[in-house]
This record gives sequence, C-alpha cells and structure tokens, in this order.
Amino acid sequence: MIDAGAMDRETLAALLRWYSDMGVDCALGETPVDRFALSLRPPTPAPEALPSEASDSAPFEPAPPPAPAASPPRAPVVSPSPPRPSLAPAAALSHDSAAASAREQAATAQNLEELRERLAAFDGCALKNSATQLVFADGAPDARIMIVGEGPGADEDRIGRPFVGRAGQLLDKMLAAIGLDRTKVYIANVVPWRPPGNRTPTPQELALCLPFIRRQIELVAPDFLVLLGASAAQTLLGEKEGIMRLRGHWRDYHCGDKIIRALPMLHPAYLLRAPMKKAQAWRDLRALKHALDKTGHS
Ligand code: URA
Repeated sequence: MIDAGAMDRETLAALLRWYSDMGVDCALGETPVDRFALSLRPPTPAPEALPSEASDSAPFEPAPPPAPAASPPRAPVVSPSPPRPSLAPAAALSHDSAAASAREQAATAQNLEELRERLAAFDGCALKNSATQLVFADGAPDARIMIVGEGPGADEDRIGRPFVGRAGQLLDKMLAAIGLDRTKVYIANVVPWRPPGNRTPTPQELALCLPFIRRQIELVAPDFLVLLGASAAQTLLGEKEGIMRLRGHWRDYHCGDKIIRALPMLHPAYLLRAPMKKAQAWRDLRALKHALDKTGHS
C-alpha cells in the first residue's frame, strides 16, 4: 500500500503521471461489485444491514466462509435448511432483462438520431456509469464505408467522438493512404462508452451493446464494413478466431435482407504498439481500395 501522505508533491505528481500513462485514470474500488445482483435485492429496512460496496461479492462468487465459531464445534445439522437464493440466476435474469430492453430499444429506433437518444437513455450497461459521455459516431451517415472499432479511449470519452486520440490519428493516415477521409466514412464502436482504464469490454458488455451497433449498421446501410480489432470483428461476425487469423479475409455480414462485405483489420492502437504489423495493415487497406475501385466507389 502506498502512503501518499509521506510523499512530497513532485513524487506524488510523478506517481499519478505514471498511473495515468499505464491507463489507470479512474478511481475504482478494489473488489468487483455485482451491480446486477444489487439492483435485484429487495430494499433492506435497517440501514446498518445495507451491503457495503467493498465487501460485496463478485458475480457468481461463492458465499464468504462463516466467521469462526467462538464455542466448541456443534454436531452437524441433520434437517435440511431452506435453499439459499443464489445470486447467479438473479444476475443472469437482470442481464437478460437489460438485453431484452436493448433489443427492443434498438430495433424500434427509426433513424440514427433516435438511436443515439435511446442509447444515451439506456441504463442497462454498467460502462455508462464510469464513462464521461456517450461516444456515438463520427463521419458521414450516408457513407458507403462504415468503420467499427472497439470502444472509446480517454480522448474519445473527453471529446465525445470516436477515434480522436493517437489511434484515431493513425486511422486518419491509413484512410488518407487510400484516398479516404471522414467525409467518406462513418465511424462507430461496438461499445459506445469507455471501458475504465481502456480495458477490453467484457463479453457481457459487448452482448448488451450489440443490438445498438447492429441497428446502427442497419440504419447507415453501408456497402463495406471495416472491423478494427478482435472485439469488433468477433462480436459482429460471431467468430471466435483471433484477429490475426480473421484479418484480411472478407466475410459476409448479414443485415436484414442485405449482405454487407466486411473486412476485419488490425486495430490502429495495436499498430502503434507493434509497428512491424503495419505491412499487414497496408495489405488489408489495399484489398479495401481494390474492392472500392471495383464497385465504382471513389
Ligand atoms: N479505439 C477504439 O476502438 N475506438 C475509439 O473510438 C478510439 C480508440
């Protein structure tokens, strides 16, 4: 445990800078909180009986062991006690009802603005609680090319637009290399709220947000989808393969009665960390350019 009180200003500032550089930029508790289970618990009349956040169980965690008995061990209880309600089905139910609400809200949105409003009002995904704001989209809603990334980072969370940080600047350069810019593409993410500390969204978070991004794709109705990174490619294509195997291979994305050609590619944030992989990204960009030229898109 760090004793911040024993540090001088400069050391403390350097430590905070280091945390921020490592992606630790929001204050969270030390133990996970199962908010689905919390929301399902009946209100407790006595205030002292309220569960404390720090001691709350993680999802599906076994109940904590009983406190050591002060008296000598008793004989085993022979009569069966009534079954304890388990948190797991309750949490699953809560997730299910949030997922049902997401499907209903997304499916009935008539246009992108309505979808944005419904997403902003949707409380089923806990990512919203730690994010600054919704990051819905950027670019041209009538574009023939839609780019889907993973989720907002710190810069996107602050500004409210996707791909505006370093990865976004690299994405702009990649697009420029094949004659594209943000007036010719539409950009969104599979999760529209920043995961804390830029962690990968969980399968539950991805599943809850999936109806919204699917509807967003349906409303934009592009001819080409570019899926950046594993989260976008696996979630939207229903694939389990890693991005290294998926990248560069065209897939069909089924969208109502339309089939959209989808190209998984390496995520620009990954390319910043692994510049040697830019050659592969360049091959994929050329494949995209070739497909655009063949179908008469400039
Ligand atoms: N990475 C993403 O996947 N999306 C963004 O909007 C920014 C960084």
